[in-house]
Amino acid sequence: MSEKAPLLQVRNLTIAFENDETRQAVTTVQNVSFDVHAGEILCIVGESGCGKSVSSMAIPRLLPSPPSIIQGGEIIFDGVDLLKLPINEMRKYRGKRIGVIFQDPMTALSPLVRIGDQIVEAVLTHECISRREAMAKALEWLGYVGIQNPALALRCYPYELSGGMQQRVMIAMCLILEPQLIIADEPTTALDVTIQAQVLDLMLKLHRKESGMIFITHDMGVVYKMAQRICVMYAGQIVEQASAKDFFKGAKHPYARALLEALPSHATRGTRLKAIPGQVPGPGKYGIGCRFADRCAQARPECTAGAVDLRPVGDHQVRCLYAE
Ligand SMILES: Nc1ncnc2c1ncn2[C@@H]1O[C@H](COP(=O)(O)OP(=O)(O)OP(=O)(O)O)[C@@H](O)[C@H]1O
Ligand SMILES: [Mg+2]
Repeated sequence: MSEKAPLLQVRNLTIAFENDETRQAVTTVQNVSFDVHAGEILCIVGESGCGKSVSSMAIPRLLPSPPSIIQGGEIIFDGVDLLKLPINEMRKYRGKRIGVIFQDPMTALSPLVRIGDQIVEAVLTHECISRREAMAKALEWLGYVGIQNPALALRCYPYELSGGMQQRVMIAMCLILEPQLIIADEPTTALDVTIQAQVLDLMLKLHRKESGMIFITHDMGVVYKMAQRICVMYAGQIVEQASAKDFFKGAKHPYARALLEALPSHATRGTRLKAIPGQVPGPGKYGIGCRFADRCAQARPECTAGAVDLRPVGDHQVRCLYAE
């Protein structure tokens, strides 16, 4: 896998949002770098507000601008820096080459259009085939994602399907275009535990070796099931990055360890993480040193004295002065 150039290289991505009142740019995501190889699932994990969605939605350039400002970095997809593409060129990448699966299907599906017509529209935007062929393809894909009566589902409006069925439709709509990169932003968080497990199994089953996936979650149980590589984000930065094997053998960053200690036991897998005391600082309140220091049991005065960079610790990259 490693001898081939990565499908995606995100380098030092730094993103700010313009404050509504002051018009000042507040840096929210800072120097985020990661690779995704074809066939690989990279999980980005961290609590709410850590910058998982902002970092990932910047890739297909789906962040509204304003208020978002890309302050620096590169997003090299298949050899092309997406940040340098004119917007009409970028549109050709979305859907066909980079597919997105959102957490809430009801915000992504159009409520007034039948499921079949929505999938057909998505296909016809990118492929020169007839409407009839596109509908046949939609029927086939609804079958692949485990919808019991695909012909009936094609004629349904989104509200007529359960949450789990809607999420399967979203997955079909994304995968039908066979994108090289799939960004799945908490695709199962809104589902109950049993349906979540089924949808995760489905995504693993349908994941092609030609495509890479970025899978965002706050749930270490889901990471354990899905990831080949892991990025842990905290307060807009990556604090640890490692292969899943190394990570689950022994995470190095105190925040990553705290998340792992909350990993649900087998009996309760799929439940939400236990809270870590304190809160993630918001953008603009990051300070100069380690952003986790005020919640970290191992913190020392040096931790907040100056910038703490990511550094190699064994086969991990860790942003902690004392990790070993
Ligand atoms: N449109 C926006 N305008 C201003 N700030 C924003 C905007 N979108 C996101 N942010 C800020 O960026 C930070 C990171 O948000 P992001 O949505 O990436 O978090 P997340 O890790 O995906 O959290 P969650 O698990 O809740 O989805 C948050 O502090 C959020 O308030
Ligand atoms: Mg998010």
